[in-house]
Amino acid sequence: MPPIRYGRVGRLRLGGLRWRLAAWVAGVLIASAAIIFLVVYNSTDSQLNGQVNRDVTGDTNQLAQALGEHRNGTPEQIADAASRYLRAQPFGATSTLMFVIVGGAATASNHPEVFGASRPDHGESAAEQATENVEGRRLLIPRIGLSTQNVPDVGAVRINERSVMLGPTRAIVGAGEPLAVIDRAEHTITRAFVLAGAAALVIALLASYLAGARVSAPLRRMAATASRVDAGDLEPRMTIPAGRSDEVRVLADAFNHMLDRLSTAFERQREFVADASHELRTPITVIRGQLEVLAAQRDPPAAEVRRVQQLVEAEIARTTRLIDDLLVLAQADRTGFLRIEPVDVRPFLEELWDGLSLTAERRFELGLLPNGTLRADPDRLAQALRNLARNAIEHTRPSTGLVRLEVDRAGAARLSFAVIDDGPGIPPEEREPIFERFHRTDPARSRDRGGAGLGLAIVLAIASAHGGSVRAGEGRSGRGARVELTLPGFTPA
Ligand SMILES: Nc1ncnc2c1ncn2[C@@H]1O[C@H](COP(=O)(O)OP(=O)(O)OP(=O)(O)O)[C@@H](O)[C@H]1O
Ligand SMILES: [Mg+2]
Repeated sequence: MPPIRYGRVGRLRLGGLRWRLAAWVAGVLIASAAIIFLVVYNSTDSQLNGQVNRDVTGDTNQLAQALGEHRNGTPEQIADAASRYLRAQPFGATSTLMFVIVGGAATASNHPEVFGASRPDHGESAAEQATENVEGRRLLIPRIGLSTQNVPDVGAVRINERSVMLGPTRAIVGAGEPLAVIDRAEHTITRAFVLAGAAALVIALLASYLAGARVSAPLRRMAATASRVDAGDLEPRMTIPAGRSDEVRVLADAFNHMLDRLSTAFERQREFVADASHELRTPITVIRGQLEVLAAQRDPPAAEVRRVQQLVEAEIARTTRLIDDLLVLAQADRTGFLRIEPVDVRPFLEELWDGLSLTAERRFELGLLPNGTLRADPDRLAQALRNLARNAIEHTRPSTGLVRLEVDRAGAARLSFAVIDDGPGIPPEEREPIFERFHRTDPARSRDRGGAGLGLAIVLAIASAHGGSVRAGEGRSGRGARVELTLPGFTPA
């Protein structure tokens, strides 16, 4: 058996619980906020882009329609008409860039500066203006359909271009909208998410830390109590504020219940050891006393030596039995205590009772025996029945006293063994405590007649190990005692 070590249990690191909870909440919050952000961002982006595409396509169509009225003009006339039309819708007012490139003639636009050859403005350097001019000229290369292009001073612009035939003249009409609007919307969404997310994160961290602290507070108290118990003090109990009916309460109740049982078990263990020591010391004291008496006589008569020898032998026999009983009780809780085998009930009991009837002068009776086998440990069963019979013998008158064994079916596969006598019986209030170790109904009873008070405790241990039970009652017609052992595992023949 491993040695029991007393000492402090590893301290529970419950402080980590609060932080872990907070970290988990933060992680979940960040992940879900990121998912929501991506969904919102993407759907807003595609919605705004779709809107811009529809707008520029509509503007292009409108422009083409307006030029359609001049299909019979020369390229110069068409370019003129386009210029007039576009001048009426300046870029500054509509934020829509519109241009017409008439084959063989000029380019008209409601924002002429963007098509190159402008002078530096907005405080730009000549080199910057040159780059812008290159970009502006690039706009003149027709790109039919939707495209995104960088427009000087405006930035990224979604442009739709289409080619229209105005009589013999081919013209490219285009309309564009700056994408800065979309950028601004997306920027706003991002900022809102970051701000709201950060605020929510702080609140969630705080809330989950506090919640973790609240949840772990009783656990920390329990850990403190457990440490005290571990240090050897079985007195402390968990205190839980009244009204709590959650898992913590269940845990605390279970813990307290366990401590109660531990305390009781320790107390019983202590009593057992004290009783056992006392019982063992008594015969030793007797032996020593007798030997001292003998030693005090210089030349003790042979009869005196013989008397002391007999007494010492009797005390040694009693002590040996006591030690055997203690060993049986110590083994009873262990696995392997029983060697179960099929016991043929009838011959087993007949032999046992015949043997017992030779040990004392009583009226031994054996009731009708059932035929069949019982799965039990024959040695332990015999020991239990012998203890019951010995008690009956001890409490009955010599010669006339009745010691009877009745064996009956008790339910499906159970067999009951009742040892009945016609002695003084067992008082009702004693019928339970007699099964406790070292319990005697009459503590003052002389040691010569009684034993240590372990006999019935052993019967109970053997019954329990078999999954059976034992109880005491009154004998026949209200007289004497009846102690009944019931075991499972009977198969009738
Ligand atoms: N048949 C009985 N009639 C009356 N009292 C009984 C009977 N059997 C047991 N008792 C009482 O129950 C007590 C406990 O019995 P138990 O057999 O456990 O101990 P014991 O007989 O005193 O000692 P041990 O059996 O260890 O020699 C006894 O002290 C006795 O007073
Ligand atoms: Mg006994």
